[in-house]
Amino acid sequence: MPVIAIIGAQWGDEGKGKVVDMLAEKSAMVIRFAGGDNAGHTVINPKGTFKLHLIPSGIFYPNVNCIIGNGVVVNPESLINELENLEKRGIDTGRLIISDRAHLIMPYHTLLDEFEERSRGRKAIGTTLRGIGPAFTDKVARMGIRAGDLLDKRSLRHRLKKVIGIKNTLLTRIHETEPLSVEEIYRQYSSYADKLKPYIGDTVEMVHDSLNSGELILLEGAQGTMLDLDFGTYPFATSSSPISGNASIGSGLAPNRIDRIIGVYKAYCTRVGSGPLPTELHDEMGHRIREQAQEYGTTTGRPRRCGWFDGVAARFSARINGFTGAIVTRIDVFDGFESLKVCVAYRLGGKEITRFPASISELERCEPVYEEMPGWNQDTTGARNWEDLPLEAQNYINRLSNLMGCPVNFACIGPERAQTIEVNPVFKAKPGQL
Ligand code: GDP
Ligand code: IMO
Ligand code: MG
Repeated sequence: MPVIAIIGAQWGDEGKGKVVDMLAEKSAMVIRFAGGDNAGHTVINPKGTFKLHLIPSGIFYPNVNCIIGNGVVVNPESLINELENLEKRGIDTGRLIISDRAHLIMPYHTLLDEFEERSRGRKAIGTTLRGIGPAFTDKVARMGIRAGDLLDKRSLRHRLKKVIGIKNTLLTRIHETEPLSVEEIYRQYSSYADKLKPYIGDTVEMVHDSLNSGELILLEGAQGTMLDLDFGTYPFATSSSPISGNASIGSGLAPNRIDRIIGVYKAYCTRVGSGPLPTELHDEMGHRIREQAQEYGTTTGRPRRCGWFDGVAARFSARINGFTGAIVTRIDVFDGFESLKVCVAYRLGGKEITRFPASISELERCEPVYEEMPGWNQDTTGARNWEDLPLEAQNYINRLSNLMGCPVNFACIGPERAQTIEVNPVFKAKPGQL
């Protein structure tokens, strides 16, 4: 009954899509458990290059059931576009099921995301403007519309009438904009319902049936731990929880059913949007990493801010997720770099600390304490075994493992499935002391 959760360990875009696509080969089910179409997971495999936002990265295998779990907020229009694009490219989407408990993103959510961002002025979060925050707000406020509501149009109209009444007061009186039409939104969502009906169902039953048959199940995370609502750099965070605790809540699998929790880390750090990134490089080196790695957002195309690997954030992330192992991606980006830096502590008010502060103002005052390591002047993209990696790259990966406090299961040296090296087998490696 192996269940493996794949979690973004930094600020998102660590390569979760690639990792899930690679591991899904041996699995029977992949479940997305958090976020919405703010996520952008790039998958490069023999079928082509794909950018997924909502559909789990297991969709390319004909034998893998893909589930959009209850923890995801679904924009039906985005999902329909994604389904149509995949179908057009010859990918069968017949094994996708959307939890009837998943909440929907509504037109007022995207509008409010935009208004709220604008009102934050210079303190804007830099959201993806996909309506994610307002949709999760409504879920918590018990005002959400769920995928299951699409199956009963009479009750859908009734709920829309109630909720849009409240939203219109907000839109017209606070944001001084035009009210939304209940009838128009009803018509729009009725047509989404007609298209999505075959995909909506009770995923809890399916998940547990698969679990009881002893099949491998992957839980696909979205975003990254440092964007977590509780543990991320609040308020510069996303509005759901990308961490392992939510893999359980967002899928309907109890915590004691999850056997392995694997953190996906990049060999360095990136962040899209605002908020602290303690190791950010504003110089030529930051530019070099961005251009070498083509660090531009999958969802919004924004340039990603780049910096050295942050060992303080890495250890914090490993601890709150309980990582049994890690996957380090993008090692190849450093091919040809003379030397590399790794942040091993922060200096704050004259003292060295290794805890990750909760306070934004403290974080902004933290200066990274770096250790310098020699780089390697060798192409690693063709390496397939640990021994194929230059000694300097092995040392670098070992140092990251040491800072995280958990073993490295895989190292990635390119975006394709095969560009992956097994370092310590997932089920044999000892978890380590976090
Ligand atoms: P996700 O959101 O965590 O799925 O990550 P993204 O897809 O947004 O960004 C990760 C990018 O890195 C994608 O373009 C991947 O194709 C790419 N990628 C993943 N692993 C590697 C790797 O080991 N080397 C290189 N060069 N690219 C990688
Ligand atoms: P994947 O799954 C990187 C960031 C946004 C913004 C903040 C809040 O591809 O790793 P939101 O729209 O969620 O309210 O924006 O979170 N963000 C991401 N950054 N990768 C992601 O997803 C992200 N999803 C949200 O840029 O700073
Ligand atoms: Mg991404």
